[in-house]
Amino acid sequence: MRTKPDESYPVEVVETDAPLGAEIRGIDLSQPLSESSSSIIRQALIDHCVVVFRGQNLSEQNQLDFTKLFGKPEVHRRAQSGDKLPGIFIVSNVTENGQAIGSLGHGEIGFHSDLAYMPLPGSISTLYAVEIPQQGGATSWASGYAAYDALDAATQRRLAGKRVSHRHTTEELNPAVTTEHPAVCTHPETGRKTLFVTPLFSRKIRGDDLSQPDADALLERLTAHAVEDRFLYQHTWREGDLVVWDNRCTMHRREPIDAQARRLMKRTQILSTSPPSE
Ligand code: OGA
Ligand code: MN
Repeated sequence: MRTKPDESYPVEVVETDAPLGAEIRGIDLSQPLSESSSSIIRQALIDHCVVVFRGQNLSEQNQLDFTKLFGKPEVHRRAQSGDKLPGIFIVSNVTENGQAIGSLGHGEIGFHSDLAYMPLPGSISTLYAVEIPQQGGATSWASGYAAYDALDAATQRRLAGKRVSHRHTTEELNPAVTTEHPAVCTHPETGRKTLFVTPLFSRKIRGDDLSQPDADALLERLTAHAVEDRFLYQHTWREGDLVVWDNRCTMHRREPIDAQARRLMKRTQILSTSPPSE
């Protein structure tokens, strides 16, 4: 279903039952956005960390224009062949003539924050659903704010000054030097503290008063805590969904997809302009 141009009827922000996520209704992202719609969207992303738009019909240019609300779309580090606009990255399990048309395949993708292993990690990401299988491939987001807030006060104090190293699981994708970020980061726009550990990328936690066995146990505990069900919003995709999220206060995970089923998504990415800070 196509929505009408955004001026013609009221825009609604509908929260999920989860500690993060909201759906915005009444905006057609293929049309130029009014000032008021733009500020509702920006505020919703700040308040809810993950924002869903259903029933969109977007060109690559529409998706890039939408992404520019939040900063400058980056060309992804992993090159892809195929005919598409720079800044668009294909996430798909589809193969044509024996060649994958996109990246990330059909397997499960464990909880991560985009590009956490880079000195300037991803800030905002958008994902637009072009083809969605009947089953599988749901994406869940975890709130880093809720995870931090739920830690006991002693653990919150213990995490002050601790740093976590992050590596991509594919060695070639890592920068030459291992990247470290604070275990607890302060979001640059909200000033809220968020737990920044990811099961997929975080390798070690380090701090002056931590022995190696204590550090290993602490990281294991934190990565399990960060993805408890109570901190999650799970999104079941429909074709025409556009989801935008803030990687600075969330992680996400994708369920596996049947290798035979077609799933095709288009992706944009903005990078942080300064390293995460405590
Ligand atoms: C991504 C990603 C998950 C999905 O594009 O960064 O993790 O559901 N995608 O495709
Ligand atoms: Mn991702």
